[in-house]
Amino acid sequence: MTLSLHKDKIRFLLLEGVHENALKVLNEAGYTNIEYIKTALDEEELIEKIKDAHFIGIRSRTQLTRKVLESAEKLIAIGCYCIGTNQVDLEAALELGIPVFNAPYSNTRSVAELVLAETIMLMRGVPEKNAVVHRGGWNKSAKDSYEVRGKTMGIVGYGSIGSQLSVLAESLGMKVIYHDAITKLPLGNAVQVGSLDELLEKADVVTLHVPDLPSTRNMMTAAEFAKMKDGAFFINAARGGCVDIDALAAALESKKILGAAIDVFPKEPKSADEEFVSPLRAFDNVILTPHVGGSTQEAQANIGLEVAEKFVKYSDQGDTTSAVNFPNVSIPFTEGTHRLLHIHKNVPGVLSQINAAFADAGINIAAQSMMTKGDVGYLVMDVDDNDSEKALQRLRAVPETIRVRVLF
Ligand code: NAI
Repeated sequence: MTLSLHKDKIRFLLLEGVHENALKVLNEAGYTNIEYIKTALDEEELIEKIKDAHFIGIRSRTQLTRKVLESAEKLIAIGCYCIGTNQVDLEAALELGIPVFNAPYSNTRSVAELVLAETIMLMRGVPEKNAVVHRGGWNKSAKDSYEVRGKTMGIVGYGSIGSQLSVLAESLGMKVIYHDAITKLPLGNAVQVGSLDELLEKADVVTLHVPDLPSTRNMMTAAEFAKMKDGAFFINAARGGCVDIDALAAALESKKILGAAIDVFPKEPKSADEEFVSPLRAFDNVILTPHVGGSTQEAQANIGLEVAEKFVKYSDQGDTTSAVNFPNVSIPFTEGTHRLLHIHKNVPGVLSQINAAFADAGINIAAQSMMTKGDVGYLVMDVDDNDSEKALQRLRAVPETIRVRVLF
């Protein structure tokens, strides 16, 4: 169990050379006890170092397994300074009462820009012309070469990336239609259509920006490509599982689809040593990129800010908004109070037990919010500052307690 610590006692271990913006944000918030290491650590070193850390920041190479997490007795939170969180045993972290944060929206603009550029390149037939010229050819022709102005972009998934792309595409004079699982407020002059089929029938370029869900897996098969306009273009920078690649190859072969840009694949090489295998390699009119839609210097800098800000909010306020594995709780501070954070096993009766114990001890609760996720519940409470020591003792006595902290 962790008591409130002075900021200079709260120890941050930042690995894998996370962007220096993270150091800036933490320092500005008063956290200076930071060990910054440029590389990943092997398991033995990691277990040794993590023992003293309250917060750990990693990128994709550090494996936070159950074994490593169980040795991290003081650990309060994990920050993945990247998008993916597969390198962390999220279930184990939850059971141990440790929220995991990441930066899912730091590279929105990077993806939107790439897709916009690809739209222009595809409509001008540049990928194929580029390949021919590289081989010494000179096919100087305007056939199948179009301006994007006045053409219709069909965006599937109007979330962070889809809506940003919509604004950029309209600024080039494109018409934008979109399809989303839910009703979304349009930006600019974009129009939501009633179904995916309607979008496929109307769009000159179709681009996917949906998450990887059972409902989006293989959402583009031969039947969907058949519904697209003859000579339309197709872009996927969302998730590889959304598209039946053989069906796309067949649509390219038959010239139903005039060109495509694909950044994500059902099976991607695990490292630079592994060969990328795909039927799409055969097509000059397909732009193939190795899952770099969001990989820019600006995105790295944004990630440094975003995750460090989440660390500060959790450390200062107990705010777990957007933690990937953990109940999300956020409440404003109440004047003249101390804040108690109680992480407990999610079984019936814990809240009533706590409220009864506080009533019995004459502790007034100024604010209270609780959420649960899986086997874990997270309760945030503000109590009169004179009562926090007493409240802490009562919380520690609750048998289902995993961790308690007091903030003041
Ligand atoms: P987001 O969560 O902000 O938006 C996704 C949108 O898709 C939401 O509006 C949601 O309602 C909608 N949606 C969900 N299921 C749907 C369905 N069955 N049909 C239609 N719409 C549906 O996500 P964000 O940040 O815009 O990312 C979109 C995709 O881009 C994700 O798959 C993400 O993993 C991927 N991505 C790829 C990158 C790359 O390097 N290529 C980098 C960043 C994100």
